[in-house]
Amino acid sequence: MAFAVLFTVSACSPKPDEGSAAPLAIAAKAVDHHSYAKPLEARVRHVDLDLTADFDRKILSGTAALSLETEPDARQVILDTKALNILGVTDAAGAPLKYALGKSDPILGAPLTIELPQGAQKVIVRYETTNKTEALQWLSPSQTAGKQHPFLFSQGQAILTRSWLPTQDSPAIRQTYSARIVTPRALKAVMSADMLTPDGEDVIDAPGKKAYRFKMDEAIPPYLIAIAVGEIDFRPLGKRTGVYAEKVTVEAAADEFVDVEKMVGAAEKLYGPYRWGRYDILVLPPSFPYGGMENPRLTFATPTILAGDRSLVSLVAHELAHSWSGNLVTNATWNDFWLNEGFTVYFENRIMEELYGKDRAAMLRTLGYQDLQDTVKGYMDDKHPELTALYIDLKGKHPDDGFSEIPYEKGASFLRVIEDTVGRRRFDAYLKGYFNRYAFKSMTTDAFIEDLSENLLKGDKALEDKINVRAWIYDPGLPTNIIVPKSDAFDKVDAQVAAFIGGAAPAELQTTDWTTQEWQRFLNQMPETLTVDQMVSLDDRFKFSASHNSEILFLWLKLAIAHHYEPAMPALETFLTSQGRRKFITPLYRDLMERPGWGQAMARRVYAEARSGYHEVTRASVDKVVN
Ligand code: BES
Ligand code: ZN
Repeated sequence: MAFAVLFTVSACSPKPDEGSAAPLAIAAKAVDHHSYAKPLEARVRHVDLDLTADFDRKILSGTAALSLETEPDARQVILDTKALNILGVTDAAGAPLKYALGKSDPILGAPLTIELPQGAQKVIVRYETTNKTEALQWLSPSQTAGKQHPFLFSQGQAILTRSWLPTQDSPAIRQTYSARIVTPRALKAVMSADMLTPDGEDVIDAPGKKAYRFKMDEAIPPYLIAIAVGEIDFRPLGKRTGVYAEKVTVEAAADEFVDVEKMVGAAEKLYGPYRWGRYDILVLPPSFPYGGMENPRLTFATPTILAGDRSLVSLVAHELAHSWSGNLVTNATWNDFWLNEGFTVYFENRIMEELYGKDRAAMLRTLGYQDLQDTVKGYMDDKHPELTALYIDLKGKHPDDGFSEIPYEKGASFLRVIEDTVGRRRFDAYLKGYFNRYAFKSMTTDAFIEDLSENLLKGDKALEDKINVRAWIYDPGLPTNIIVPKSDAFDKVDAQVAAFIGGAAPAELQTTDWTTQEWQRFLNQMPETLTVDQMVSLDDRFKFSASHNSEILFLWLKLAIAHHYEPAMPALETFLTSQGRRKFITPLYRDLMERPGWGQAMARRVYAEARSGYHEVTRASVDKVVN
C-alpha cells in the first residue's frame, strides 16, 4: 500500500526542480517554537469546520474534524489551542477518544493531546470559543460602519488561529480546509476560501438561520484560515476580482479599488500566474487592527485606506503580492517572518511602479526608507540592536515582539541590493523561479540562502561578497551598500519645507497637485522647532486637522501632540475612537504618554473609553504603553 501511494505520487507530480532539493531538505529541519505540534509523528492535513455563530453569547460553537497523516507507530496527535472550551473528542465513527488539555502558556496557549487508536485518520473535536478568544472580534451594531447589525471577524496571524479552532497552528504545517458556517438569517458569512453558497442555504428546523459552505483546496498555513460574518454586500471589480463590505461602505470601496483587476495582471506579468482563482477584498468595520491581512482569495482590509482618491492602494498591492510571497511560499517559522514581508514590500513596489510609474514608486520607497531609519534608530537607542536583524530568534517570545519595519523595509532593501547587483532581468527570473520552486511550501532563512546561492549566485564568491548576504540577514543595523532611494518630487517638497522654515507663509508655498505621498513627505520633514503659531498657520491653510486621509491625519496628529497644538485635540480624540488600526493607534497613545500632565491625562481618559472597542491585538499593544 505504502509503495503504491509513493509510486502514484512520483508518477503524477511534475519533475522536481533540481535546484530545490537541498533548500527543501534544509527547510524541513525547521523547528517552530510557537507550536506544540509534533508533525513528524502525526500531522493535520485537512480541517473541516461545522460552526454556528452565536451573536448573543458571542461564541462560535460546533466541531472541527481533522484529517491526519500519521507515522505507523503514532499513538497521539498534539494540537494547539488557546482559551477554547473543549467539549469532547471522537473518532470518525463517533466513538469517544481520550484527550488531555495541558497547562496553558500565556503566549502559546495549551496543547490538546488526543490518544489515537491504531491507524486513526480522523479526529473530531467538539468545542466552543470563549470570551478570551483573541482571534475573534464580536462587534455590536454601534461598532460597525452601518450601525444596524452585529459583525464578527477573525485575525489569525501570527499565532491566533488556535484561539478559534483547534489545529496544529504552525506555518510549516500546511492544511486544506472546508467549512459550514451557520449564521443569523440577516447576515452573511465569508471566508478565505472558495465560496460554495454565495446566498446561503436554509437550515432545516432553524428558519431564523442560514448556512454557508466553503472550501480551500490548496494547502495553506493555518494563520490564513479566516472568517467574517456581517451584513456584507458585494460589488464585482473585474472578471476575477471584487469587493465585499458593509452595505454603507461597498460603493466607496468599489470606487477606491477600480484598479485591482489590473493589479492582478501586473503582478502576474512580474512573477507568474495568480494561483488562487479569485482575488476579492473584504473591507472590515473600523476596528480592524491591521491595514490589511492577506487571507487567500479574500484580503481583509481596514476602511482607513478608503481615502476617496485611490491614493492609499499600495496596501492592496501589498496584500495581493502576498499571494506569492507568504501564501505560496510561506515563512516556516516566525523567525523567518522577513521572508514573507520583505519579499512582499519589494514585490508591492514593483506592482506600483508597473501600474503608476517610477515616480510614485520612488516616493513610496523613500517614505519606507525614512520609516526604516527611524525604526533602526529607535531600537539602537533602546539598546535592542538584535531586533534590527532580519532573522531573529523568537524562542520564548511572542512573534509580535519581532514585528516592526525591519522585516518589511530592511527585507525589501536587501532584495533591492540583490536586484541592483545582478540586474533586474536576472533577479526577476530568479524570483519567478523561486515562487515556482517552493509553491505551496514553507521556507526558512537558511533554505533561502542556499537557494540564492544555488540558483542565482551560483558560486560567484565576488558577487556574494558584494551583496554581503550574511550581514544583511544576521547583523544588526543597515549594511553600507543599502540603496538610498531618490525622488525628484520629494526634492521639490523639501524645497518648500525649507522655504516654510525660512519664514515663507503657507500660502506662498507651491503645493498645487501634490499627492498624498508628497503631503506625507512634507509632514515628515517638519522640524522639531515648529512653533504653535506655525502649526496654526499650516492648519489654516491646508486644513490638516480636518483631513479625511488617514495617513496625512495621522502624521499631523503626531505633530499636534509633539507641539501641544490644542485645536487638533478634538480631531485626535475622534481619530482614536473611530478606528482601531494598531499602526495609527499605538504610536499616538505612546506620544501622548510622553507628555506628562495633559498628554498622559488625555491618553488615560480616551483609552478608558475606547479600549472596549479595539480588537485584542490593538489592546495588547496599547496596554503596554498606557498602563
Ligand atoms: N501580514 C501582514 C499583517 C500581519 C503581520 C498581521 C503579522 C499579523 C502579524 C500584512 O500583510 C501587512 O503587512 N499589513 C500592513 C500593511 C502593509 C501595506 C505594510 C499593515 O497592516 O499595516
Ligand atoms: Zn504584509
